[in-house]
Amino acid sequence: MINCGVVGATGLVGETMIKVLQDRSFPSVSFHPFASDRSEGKVVRYRNIDYPVEVLRPETINKGMILFGATSANIAKNWVPMCIAKEAVVIDNSSAFRMDPDVLLVVPEVNGHLITGKENIIANPNCSTIQLAVALNPLAQLGRIEWISVSTYQAVSGAGTPALEELKRQQNGTLPANTADSIHENIITSIGPPDTGGYCGEEVKLMNETCKIIGMDFPIFAATARVPVRTGHTEAVVVKFDNPVQSNEATRLFAESPGVTVSESGASPLDVEDTDIVIVDRIRNNPRDPSVLQFWVLADNLRKGAALNAVQIAELYINMI
Ligand SMILES: NC(=O)c1ccc[n+]([C@@H]2O[C@H](COP(=O)([O-])OP(=O)(O)OC[C@H]3O[C@@H](n4cnc5c(N)ncnc54)[C@H](OP(=O)(O)O)[C@@H]3O)[C@@H](O)[C@H]2O)c1
Repeated sequence: MINCGVVGATGLVGETMIKVLQDRSFPSVSFHPFASDRSEGKVVRYRNIDYPVEVLRPETINKGMILFGATSANIAKNWVPMCIAKEAVVIDNSSAFRMDPDVLLVVPEVNGHLITGKENIIANPNCSTIQLAVALNPLAQLGRIEWISVSTYQAVSGAGTPALEELKRQQNGTLPANTADSIHENIITSIGPPDTGGYCGEEVKLMNETCKIIGMDFPIFAATARVPVRTGHTEAVVVKFDNPVQSNEATRLFAESPGVTVSESGASPLDVEDTDIVIVDRIRNNPRDPSVLQFWVLADNLRKGAALNAVQIAELYINMI
Protein backbone atom coordinates (compact mmCIF):
# COMPACT_ATOMS: atom_id res chain seq x y z
CA MET A 1 0.00 0.00 0.00
CA ILE A 2 2.32 2.69 -1.28
CA ASN A 3 1.58 6.41 -1.49
CA CYS A 4 3.84 7.84 -4.15
CA GLY A 5 4.72 11.07 -5.89
CA VAL A 6 6.95 12.35 -8.66
CA VAL A 7 8.75 15.63 -7.97
CA GLY A 8 9.47 17.21 -11.36
CA ALA A 9 6.51 15.42 -12.92
CA THR A 10 6.35 17.83 -15.88
CA GLY A 11 9.98 17.27 -16.98
CA LEU A 12 11.43 14.66 -19.33
CA VAL A 13 12.46 12.26 -16.56
CA GLY A 14 9.28 12.89 -14.54
CA GLU A 15 7.03 12.19 -17.54
CA THR A 16 8.98 9.03 -18.30
CA MET A 17 8.75 8.05 -14.64
CA ILE A 18 4.97 8.22 -14.83
CA LYS A 19 4.98 5.98 -17.94
CA VAL A 20 7.32 3.46 -16.28
CA LEU A 21 5.25 3.37 -13.06
CA GLN A 22 2.20 2.56 -15.20
CA ASP A 23 4.04 0.05 -17.43
CA ARG A 24 5.28 -1.89 -14.39
CA SER A 25 1.98 -1.70 -12.45
CA PHE A 26 3.71 -0.03 -9.52
CA PRO A 27 1.69 -0.91 -6.39
CA SER A 28 0.64 2.64 -5.49
CA VAL A 29 -2.62 3.50 -3.78
CA SER A 30 -2.22 7.24 -4.18
CA PHE A 31 -0.27 9.47 -6.57
CA HIS A 32 0.86 13.11 -6.48
CA PRO A 33 2.60 14.96 -9.35
CA PHE A 34 4.74 17.85 -8.07
CA ALA A 35 6.52 20.58 -10.05
CA SER A 36 7.32 24.28 -9.79
CA ASP A 37 4.65 26.95 -9.35
CA ARG A 38 4.94 27.55 -13.13
CA SER A 39 3.11 24.25 -13.63
CA GLU A 40 0.32 24.74 -11.09
CA GLY A 41 -2.96 24.19 -12.93
CA LYS A 42 -1.50 21.71 -15.40
CA VAL A 43 -2.89 18.20 -15.38
CA VAL A 44 -0.95 14.92 -15.43
CA ARG A 45 -2.60 11.64 -16.39
CA TYR A 46 -1.70 8.53 -14.37
CA ARG A 47 -3.62 5.26 -14.81
CA ASN A 48 -6.47 7.01 -16.64
CA ILE A 49 -6.99 9.56 -13.89
CA ASP A 50 -6.18 13.27 -14.27
CA TYR A 51 -4.16 14.71 -11.38
CA PRO A 52 -3.54 18.45 -10.90
CA VAL A 53 0.14 19.35 -10.63
CA GLU A 54 0.92 20.49 -7.09
CA VAL A 55 3.66 22.55 -5.47
CA LEU A 56 5.39 20.42 -2.85
CA ARG A 57 4.25 21.37 0.65
CA PRO A 58 5.13 19.64 3.96
CA GLU A 59 1.47 18.92 4.72
CA THR A 60 1.14 16.76 1.56
CA ILE A 61 4.03 14.51 2.55
CA ASN A 62 3.49 11.63 4.93
CA LYS A 63 5.46 8.83 6.54
CA GLY A 64 6.41 6.01 4.18
CA MET A 65 5.47 7.92 1.01
CA ILE A 66 7.84 7.12 -1.86
CA LEU A 67 8.92 10.24 -3.77
CA PHE A 68 10.70 9.94 -7.09
CA GLY A 69 12.90 13.02 -7.56
CA ALA A 70 13.28 14.38 -11.10
CA THR A 71 14.43 17.94 -10.48
CA SER A 72 17.85 19.58 -10.82
CA ALA A 73 20.37 19.04 -8.02
CA ASN A 74 19.96 22.60 -6.69
CA ILE A 75 16.20 22.18 -6.40
CA ALA A 76 16.60 18.71 -4.86
CA LYS A 77 18.84 20.12 -2.11
CA ASN A 78 15.84 22.21 -1.01
CA TRP A 79 13.01 19.72 -1.04
CA VAL A 80 14.68 16.38 -0.22
CA PRO A 81 15.63 17.24 3.42
CA MET A 82 12.08 18.46 4.07
CA CYS A 83 10.62 15.18 2.77
CA ILE A 84 13.09 13.07 4.75
CA ALA A 85 12.13 15.05 7.87
CA LYS A 86 8.52 14.00 7.18
CA GLU A 87 9.75 10.33 7.04
CA ALA A 88 9.10 9.92 3.34
CA VAL A 89 11.52 7.86 1.22
CA VAL A 90 13.21 9.66 -1.67
CA ILE A 91 14.66 8.04 -4.79
CA ASP A 92 16.49 10.95 -6.33
CA ASN A 93 17.61 11.28 -9.96
CA SER A 94 19.68 14.41 -9.42
CA SER A 95 23.39 14.50 -8.61
CA ALA A 96 22.79 16.24 -5.25
CA PHE A 97 23.34 13.23 -2.97
CA ARG A 98 24.99 10.61 -5.20
CA MET A 99 28.51 10.88 -3.80
CA ASP A 100 27.40 11.32 -0.16
CA PRO A 101 29.11 8.39 1.63
CA ASP A 102 25.94 7.81 3.68
CA VAL A 103 23.68 7.50 0.60
CA LEU A 104 23.39 4.33 -1.50
CA LEU A 105 23.92 4.86 -5.22
CA VAL A 106 22.18 1.97 -6.90
CA VAL A 107 21.99 0.17 -10.21
CA PRO A 108 19.77 -2.78 -9.27
CA GLU A 109 21.58 -5.33 -11.48
CA VAL A 110 24.92 -4.40 -9.87
CA ASN A 111 24.40 -3.48 -6.20
CA GLY A 112 20.65 -3.72 -5.61
CA HIS A 113 21.39 -6.31 -2.88
CA LEU A 114 22.64 -3.44 -0.67
CA ILE A 115 19.11 -2.05 -0.24
CA THR A 116 17.79 -2.89 3.24
CA GLY A 117 14.42 -1.15 3.31
CA LYS A 118 15.69 1.14 6.09
CA GLU A 119 16.91 3.92 3.78
CA ASN A 120 15.30 7.37 3.72
CA ILE A 121 17.06 8.31 0.47
CA ILE A 122 18.57 6.26 -2.36
CA ALA A 123 20.36 8.01 -5.21
CA ASN A 124 19.87 7.13 -8.86
CA PRO A 125 23.13 7.45 -10.84
CA ASN A 126 23.83 9.64 -13.84
CA CYS A 127 22.35 8.31 -17.10
CA SER A 128 25.72 7.60 -18.75
CA THR A 129 26.91 5.85 -15.57
CA ILE A 130 23.97 3.45 -15.30
CA GLN A 131 24.44 1.78 -18.69
CA LEU A 132 28.22 1.57 -18.18
CA ALA A 133 27.77 -0.08 -14.76
CA VAL A 134 25.27 -2.60 -16.15
CA ALA A 135 27.78 -3.58 -18.85
CA LEU A 136 30.83 -3.74 -16.56
CA ASN A 137 29.02 -5.79 -13.93
CA PRO A 138 29.70 -9.29 -15.38
CA LEU A 139 33.25 -8.53 -16.52
CA ALA A 140 34.87 -8.95 -13.09
CA GLN A 141 34.49 -12.70 -13.78
CA LEU A 142 37.09 -12.40 -16.56
CA GLY A 143 39.87 -11.01 -14.38
CA ARG A 144 40.98 -7.95 -12.48
CA ILE A 145 40.13 -4.74 -14.32
CA GLU A 146 43.18 -2.45 -14.52
CA TRP A 147 41.52 0.53 -16.20
CA ILE A 148 38.59 1.57 -18.34
CA SER A 149 38.32 4.12 -21.13
CA VAL A 150 34.86 5.36 -22.10
CA SER A 151 33.88 7.88 -24.77
CA THR A 152 30.23 8.92 -24.82
CA TYR A 153 27.90 10.18 -27.54
CA GLN A 154 25.04 11.52 -25.42
CA ALA A 155 21.56 12.39 -26.57
CA VAL A 156 20.11 15.87 -26.16
CA SER A 157 17.20 14.70 -23.96
CA GLY A 158 19.87 13.94 -21.35
CA ALA A 159 20.07 17.69 -20.76
CA GLY A 160 16.34 18.10 -20.08
CA THR A 161 13.37 19.87 -21.65
CA PRO A 162 15.07 23.19 -22.57
CA ALA A 163 17.87 21.42 -24.48
CA LEU A 164 15.42 19.27 -26.45
CA GLU A 165 13.36 22.36 -27.30
CA GLU A 166 16.55 24.09 -28.47
CA LEU A 167 17.43 21.15 -30.75
CA LYS A 168 13.91 21.10 -32.24
CA ARG A 169 14.02 24.87 -32.92
CA GLN A 170 17.49 24.69 -34.43
CA GLN A 171 16.31 21.80 -36.63
CA ASN A 172 13.23 23.67 -37.86
CA GLY A 173 15.16 26.91 -38.35
CA THR A 174 13.36 29.05 -35.76
CA LEU A 175 16.59 29.36 -33.73
CA PRO A 176 20.04 30.02 -35.26
CA ALA A 177 22.49 27.11 -35.04
CA ASN A 178 25.71 28.85 -35.88
CA THR A 179 27.64 29.01 -32.59
CA ALA A 180 30.07 26.53 -31.02
CA ASP A 181 27.47 25.60 -28.40
CA SER A 182 24.64 24.99 -30.92
CA ILE A 183 23.73 21.31 -30.91
CA HIS A 184 22.12 20.94 -34.37
CA GLU A 185 24.62 19.39 -36.83
CA ASN A 186 27.32 19.76 -34.17
CA ILE A 187 29.12 17.88 -31.39
CA ILE A 188 29.66 19.52 -28.00
CA THR A 189 32.76 17.97 -26.45
CA SER A 190 32.42 19.38 -22.93
CA ILE A 191 29.16 18.61 -21.09
CA GLY A 192 29.31 21.45 -18.59
CA PRO A 193 32.43 23.61 -18.31
CA PRO A 194 35.82 21.93 -17.66
CA ASP A 195 37.06 22.03 -14.05
CA THR A 196 40.58 23.13 -13.06
CA GLY A 197 41.90 19.68 -14.01
CA GLY A 198 40.27 19.91 -17.46
CA TYR A 199 37.47 17.36 -16.89
CA CYS A 200 33.86 18.42 -17.40
CA GLY A 201 31.16 17.64 -14.83
CA GLU A 202 29.72 14.74 -16.82
CA GLU A 203 33.13 13.05 -16.99
CA VAL A 204 33.69 13.50 -13.26
CA LYS A 205 30.26 11.97 -12.52
CA LEU A 206 30.93 9.02 -14.82
CA MET A 207 34.31 8.31 -13.23
CA ASN A 208 33.34 8.74 -9.57
CA GLU A 209 29.87 7.18 -9.67
CA THR A 210 30.99 4.08 -11.58
CA CYS A 211 33.64 3.25 -8.97
CA LYS A 212 31.16 3.84 -6.12
CA ILE A 213 28.56 1.50 -7.68
CA ILE A 214 30.96 -1.26 -8.72
CA GLY A 215 32.75 -1.00 -5.36
CA MET A 216 36.21 -0.98 -6.99
CA ASP A 217 38.72 1.77 -7.52
CA PHE A 218 40.42 1.76 -10.92
CA PRO A 219 41.26 4.60 -13.31
CA ILE A 220 38.44 5.51 -15.69
CA PHE A 221 39.42 7.67 -18.65
CA ALA A 222 36.17 9.40 -19.58
CA ALA A 223 35.48 11.68 -22.54
CA THR A 224 31.85 12.81 -22.80
CA ALA A 225 30.19 14.54 -25.74
CA ARG A 226 26.67 15.73 -26.58
CA VAL A 227 25.51 14.78 -30.08
CA PRO A 228 22.35 15.84 -31.96
CA VAL A 229 20.45 12.63 -31.17
CA ARG A 230 17.03 12.92 -29.53
CA THR A 231 17.19 10.01 -27.07
CA GLY A 232 19.63 7.16 -26.37
CA HIS A 233 23.20 7.41 -25.12
CA THR A 234 25.98 5.55 -26.98
CA GLU A 235 29.30 4.71 -25.32
CA ALA A 236 32.54 3.28 -26.73
CA VAL A 237 34.19 1.28 -23.94
CA VAL A 238 37.71 -0.14 -23.64
CA VAL A 239 38.47 -2.41 -20.67
CA LYS A 240 42.02 -3.43 -19.76
CA PHE A 241 42.38 -6.60 -17.66
CA ASP A 242 45.47 -7.94 -15.91
CA ASN A 243 45.24 -11.16 -17.96
CA PRO A 244 44.26 -12.21 -21.50
CA VAL A 245 40.49 -12.43 -22.06
CA GLN A 246 38.38 -14.04 -24.78
CA SER A 247 35.72 -11.93 -26.49
CA ASN A 248 33.47 -14.98 -26.92
CA GLU A 249 33.63 -15.59 -23.15
CA ALA A 250 32.74 -11.93 -22.57
CA THR A 251 29.84 -12.29 -25.01
CA ARG A 252 28.55 -15.31 -23.06
CA LEU A 253 28.75 -13.39 -19.75
CA PHE A 254 26.97 -10.37 -21.24
CA ALA A 255 24.24 -12.60 -22.67
CA GLU A 256 23.62 -14.16 -19.24
CA SER A 257 23.62 -10.81 -17.49
CA PRO A 258 20.29 -9.29 -16.37
CA GLY A 259 19.24 -6.24 -18.35
CA VAL A 260 21.76 -6.79 -21.16
CA THR A 261 20.95 -7.55 -24.80
CA VAL A 262 23.91 -8.60 -26.95
CA SER A 263 24.18 -7.34 -30.52
CA GLU A 264 26.79 -7.92 -33.22
CA SER A 265 25.48 -5.71 -35.95
CA GLY A 266 26.25 -2.09 -35.07
CA ALA A 267 23.34 -0.92 -32.91
CA SER A 268 22.13 2.69 -32.95
CA PRO A 269 20.30 4.91 -30.44
CA LEU A 270 17.09 4.28 -32.39
CA ASP A 271 17.35 0.61 -31.29
CA VAL A 272 17.07 1.60 -27.62
CA GLU A 273 14.70 4.58 -27.71
CA ASP A 274 11.56 3.84 -25.64
CA THR A 275 12.92 0.43 -24.60
CA ASP A 276 14.21 -0.96 -21.30
CA ILE A 277 17.24 -2.75 -22.75
CA VAL A 278 20.95 -2.03 -22.42
CA ILE A 279 22.57 -3.14 -25.68
CA VAL A 280 26.18 -4.33 -25.61
CA ASP A 281 27.37 -4.35 -29.21
CA ARG A 282 30.41 -5.44 -31.25
CA ILE A 283 32.38 -7.10 -28.43
CA ARG A 284 35.95 -7.56 -29.65
CA ASN A 285 39.49 -8.32 -28.54
CA ASN A 286 42.26 -5.98 -29.49
CA PRO A 287 44.45 -7.87 -32.00
CA ARG A 288 47.68 -6.52 -30.47
CA ASP A 289 46.72 -6.87 -26.81
CA PRO A 290 44.59 -9.86 -25.75
CA SER A 291 44.06 -8.34 -22.30
CA VAL A 292 41.97 -5.55 -23.86
CA LEU A 293 38.26 -5.83 -24.63
CA GLN A 294 36.29 -3.26 -26.61
CA PHE A 295 32.54 -2.87 -27.06
CA TRP A 296 29.72 -0.37 -27.43
CA VAL A 297 26.96 0.17 -24.85
CA LEU A 298 23.62 1.84 -25.65
CA ALA A 299 20.53 2.59 -23.56
CA ASP A 300 17.57 4.97 -23.44
CA ASN A 301 18.83 7.71 -21.09
CA LEU A 302 15.30 8.56 -19.94
CA ARG A 303 14.26 4.96 -19.20
CA LYS A 304 17.16 2.74 -17.96
CA GLY A 305 19.31 5.87 -17.60
CA ALA A 306 16.80 7.48 -15.23
CA ALA A 307 13.14 6.52 -14.70
CA LEU A 308 13.29 2.74 -15.09
CA ASN A 309 16.34 2.44 -12.85
CA ALA A 310 14.59 4.53 -10.18
CA VAL A 311 11.41 2.44 -10.30
CA GLN A 312 13.47 -0.77 -10.13
CA ILE A 313 15.15 0.66 -6.99
CA ALA A 314 11.71 1.34 -5.50
CA GLU A 315 10.59 -2.21 -6.28
CA LEU A 316 13.63 -3.64 -4.45
CA TYR A 317 13.00 -1.26 -1.55
CA ILE A 318 9.36 -2.33 -1.27
CA ASN A 319 10.39 -5.99 -1.25
CA MET A 320 12.51 -5.31 1.83
CA ILE A 321 9.91 -3.46 3.95
N1 LIG B 1 17.24 13.72 -18.88
C1 LIG B 1 17.93 12.63 -18.57
O1 LIG B 1 18.19 11.76 -19.44
C2 LIG B 1 18.38 12.38 -17.16
C3 LIG B 1 18.94 11.15 -16.85
C4 LIG B 1 19.37 10.91 -15.54
C5 LIG B 1 19.21 11.89 -14.57
N2 LIG B 1 18.66 13.09 -14.92
C6 LIG B 1 18.49 14.09 -13.86
O2 LIG B 1 17.09 14.13 -13.57
C7 LIG B 1 16.71 15.45 -13.19
C8 LIG B 1 15.57 15.94 -14.07
O3 LIG B 1 16.02 16.00 -15.42
P1 LIG B 1 15.05 16.30 -16.65
O4 LIG B 1 15.85 15.98 -17.85
O5 LIG B 1 13.73 15.65 -16.47
O6 LIG B 1 14.86 17.91 -16.51
P2 LIG B 1 13.65 18.82 -17.06
O7 LIG B 1 13.02 18.20 -18.24
O8 LIG B 1 14.23 20.18 -17.22
O9 LIG B 1 12.59 18.81 -15.85
C9 LIG B 1 12.83 19.48 -14.63
C10 LIG B 1 11.63 19.30 -13.72
O10 LIG B 1 11.93 19.94 -12.47
C11 LIG B 1 10.77 20.70 -12.12
N3 LIG B 1 11.07 21.79 -11.19
C12 LIG B 1 11.76 22.93 -11.44
N4 LIG B 1 11.75 23.70 -10.34
C13 LIG B 1 11.04 23.04 -9.39
C14 LIG B 1 10.68 23.32 -8.04
N5 LIG B 1 11.05 24.46 -7.44
N6 LIG B 1 9.95 22.38 -7.36
C15 LIG B 1 9.56 21.24 -7.95
N7 LIG B 1 9.87 20.92 -9.24
C16 LIG B 1 10.61 21.81 -9.93
C17 LIG B 1 10.26 21.21 -13.44
O11 LIG B 1 8.94 21.69 -13.27
P3 LIG B 1 8.34 22.88 -14.21
O12 LIG B 1 7.90 22.18 -15.47
O13 LIG B 1 7.21 23.39 -13.40
O14 LIG B 1 9.45 23.86 -14.43
C18 LIG B 1 10.34 19.94 -14.25
O15 LIG B 1 9.24 19.10 -13.97
C19 LIG B 1 18.00 16.31 -13.28
O16 LIG B 1 18.63 16.35 -12.02
C20 LIG B 1 18.85 15.52 -14.25
O17 LIG B 1 20.23 15.75 -14.09
C21 LIG B 1 18.24 13.36 -16.18
